Amino acid sequence: MANDASAVATPSHSADAPHVDPFTPSSDSSLWRKNFLLGAATASYQIEGAVDEDGRLPSIWDTFSATPGKVLAGDTGTVACDHYHRWEADVDLLAGLGLEAYRLSIAWPRVMDAAGQPNRKGLDFYKRLLGRLKEMGIQTYVTLYHWDLPQHLEDRGGWLNRDTAYRFADYADLVSRELTGSVDAWATLNEPWCSAYLGYGNGHHAPGLANGRFATQAMHHLLLAHGLAIPVLRANDPASQKGIVANIGRGTPNSDSAADQRAAHLFEVQHNAWILDPLLKGAYPNELFDLWPGTEPLVLDGDLQTIAAPIDFLGINYYFRTNVESDGAHGFREVPLEGVERTQMGWEVHPDGLRDLLVGFKGTYRNLPPIYITENGMASDDKVVDGGVDDTQRISFLKRHLAAVDQAIKAGVDIRGYFLWSLMDNFEWAFGYERRFGIVHVDYGTQKRTIKRSAELVSKFLKERKEKS
Ligand code: FCB
Repeated sequence: MANDASAVATPSHSADAPHVDPFTPSSDSSLWRKNFLLGAATASYQIEGAVDEDGRLPSIWDTFSATPGKVLAGDTGTVACDHYHRWEADVDLLAGLGLEAYRLSIAWPRVMDAAGQPNRKGLDFYKRLLGRLKEMGIQTYVTLYHWDLPQHLEDRGGWLNRDTAYRFADYADLVSRELTGSVDAWATLNEPWCSAYLGYGNGHHAPGLANGRFATQAMHHLLLAHGLAIPVLRANDPASQKGIVANIGRGTPNSDSAADQRAAHLFEVQHNAWILDPLLKGAYPNELFDLWPGTEPLVLDGDLQTIAAPIDFLGINYYFRTNVESDGAHGFREVPLEGVERTQMGWEVHPDGLRDLLVGFKGTYRNLPPIYITENGMASDDKVVDGGVDDTQRISFLKRHLAAVDQAIKAGVDIRGYFLWSLMDNFEWAFGYERRFGIVHVDYGTQKRTIKRSAELVSKFLKERKEKS
């Protein structure tokens, strides 16, 4: 059973296994390969704060989080982890842990004004940050859009307006000209499914609109934005890798019945194929519009070719699975399983889902590019006790998911790295500060950072791996 930690996380006890602890991967794991990148991830709105400093303009998340009832406890990203002022110490923290790569995002409203002109102070912040990461020998994975759309663009329709895709290409042009040479890998978008579906389809995220037709049109414009930006990034910064980050969902059938199996398939069409098919096959899955009649987006000639521009890598974010049965408006209905392990988010811990999806994608997409797991991790109600944080469940979660990644590699999937979500506790969108995903604890009253036990063990493993090579 995947939920039984002892069954899944069996460490190797071979003689050469170095000091087996609750995190260290088994001695035959691909994770020991020196070129398997291990890093941590964050996103601008979730950590930076300083929302109206140095010319930053409001984003849709400033507006949304200031709207009563949208975010738990009325939390906002106004201060967050104050990373805008504490970035040097935060980079020291990353380097001190021995993490090899850092995935961060750039705040569009910090670097470009409403007329499309550069905001020097905002750009300088990222130049300093990326420069320091380079000095420290940390590889930089930069996401251009992790959900903080400038509010002035939302005021003109946001992702429902085709023009936003062209504004995004302008933004990608500006940023990649300015930061060329200091970025190892560019990702255009983070999780277009969340931007389109949660933002425009059910209203749980900014800008908070709820209409099925809006979701598909927003998705189309997001993917178009990605496709328009790829050649721009290639022209401005040829040495770096270019890709996109998608969240993927595992749907499992509640029974062996053909109807439930079909429900699980339809779940994955709506979560995965909706995004990956246009990117990797140049077409939307027909089943999507059979399920959601009347929601076909307006697609112009040539859009799908633009969207399917070859990419150097695909970033995959994975958190949980959804158990489903047939029925419901979307062709499936969730049937939450009883007695399974869950995280503070209520998400089921299911590492096999990550492996199965990765192996499945390799079969489905002949041109599947190299993969980085760009986010994986879990929230727990972590507390500092005697100066430390013992986040036992996270340690076990990470170990089991890294074992699943290893299994996918052994099954032939080209996976090159893994980023923990997240470097530190931060603003977890509609859940505010109550959900702690970090491997570093943040006391929001004092901004004190405390390294959790999970971070210590990741760091210990990286040190051991380095010594071995
Ligand atoms: C992902 C987001 C990331 C974080 C994690 C928990 O969907 O990309 O910003 O909130 O979930």
